[in-house]
Amino acid sequence: MERKKVVCVIGTRPEAIKMAPVVKALAADASFDVRVLATGQHAAMLDQVLDFFGLSADRNLHIMRERQSLDYITSSVLTGVGEYFDGAGAAAVLVHGDTTTTFAAGLAAFYRGIPIGHVEAGLRSGNMRLPFPEEMNRVLVDKMITWGFAPTKLAAENLRKEGLPEGAISVTGNTVIDALFYTITKRRSPEAGELSVLPDGAPFLLVTAHRRESWGRPLEGICEALVEILDAHPDVWMVVPMHKNPAVRETIGKYLGGRDRAILCDPLDYPDFVWAMNTSKFILSDSGGVQEEASAIKKPVLILRDVTERPEVVEQGSGLLVGVRKEKILAAALRLLEEPGAIAAIEKRCEAQPFGDGTASVKIVNTLKESLLK
Ligand code: UD1
Ligand code: UDP
Repeated sequence: MERKKVVCVIGTRPEAIKMAPVVKALAADASFDVRVLATGQHAAMLDQVLDFFGLSADRNLHIMRERQSLDYITSSVLTGVGEYFDGAGAAAVLVHGDTTTTFAAGLAAFYRGIPIGHVEAGLRSGNMRLPFPEEMNRVLVDKMITWGFAPTKLAAENLRKEGLPEGAISVTGNTVIDALFYTITKRRSPEAGELSVLPDGAPFLLVTAHRRESWGRPLEGICEALVEILDAHPDVWMVVPMHKNPAVRETIGKYLGGRDRAILCDPLDYPDFVWAMNTSKFILSDSGGVQEEASAIKKPVLILRDVTERPEVVEQGSGLLVGVRKEKILAAALRLLEEPGAIAAIEKRCEAQPFGDGTASVKIVNTLKESLLK
């Protein structure tokens, strides 16, 4: 029997992490001929993930430019991916999440009538501008899809409400949990040299921030809060793996560069980041994926945003939406650091696992099999 060619498109770090288990599951199944198409929306941050998971792109379009605009990413992905699809003979294309790679690659597949599977479909914040431009990307791509792989029941419900036929929707769990479980078994102590300055057993907070809508004043508000947290707690360290984006690094460097107990470092490779999440007292982040991972490892996360498309995290109790203003972030962090039992109470609430049990990629492959091989 002829194997079905499935092209998995990835562009950025989180797409690579969350698509890796799907690529591996497809590769392990003799019914499929899996190809990885990287747009190269990210460069080093994408390679770092592919290296760890032992994957390589069959083709990388290497589109990344410094301080790239949304117009540039959209048009270069649309054209480059479209040209790739023209010669690929794909039976299906898989895209992940809500980046501009996701939307533009989906559009290129749609223009050619290639069926699209959307991994992590159906997330909605309810505000088209938050996060920006991710909410628009995910809404638009879900208008083009044949398979919506919803990570949770709520995400499936969102797809239903928007008119996606019932037969197109499946609840799979989030593939980030598959990636996380795989990673936890691989490495238990960190390799990154930067982390060696952290004294053994020192309490630390893990911080990430990169969202486009936070560039400028909101990110400054976040940084002001971080400085005050460090000042208020002379025993506490901060590990801040900085996104490669210069707009983000400049602001973080301005506020936290050279401060005692603030470790500003390059993006950590995935196992080191997982180690840092697990070992930290708690996390402050505006990342989507980190909210899901924090919930799975029962770690409190202060969500540095005004809205989340992952309300399951807030309902479960591991995540607190603290926004981007200094006062609220500071108050929430000091409460966790100073109120006896505050962290333990959150950890206790996290018995439920809203994002699945680590079998999302197998479920996705099974659905594709039923659909493409019947
Ligand atoms: C992108 C996604 C966002 C996702 C994030 C994950 C869009 C519009 N945004 O945002 O949804 O949450 O990835 O991290 O799709 N850079 C490097 N090296 C790298 C990666 C980035 O130098 O390996 C720098 C470049 O200057 C680049 C800039 O970061 O222009 C921004 O990258 P871009 O992909 O446009 O935006 P992100 O903020 O990374
Ligand atoms: N991550 C990582 N190293 C880092 C920071 C984050 O491996 O230094 C991982 C993290 O565990 C999560 C993913 O990157 O799986 C989140 O990526 P990001 O925050 O860039 O994007 P988002 O999830 O917000 O789209």
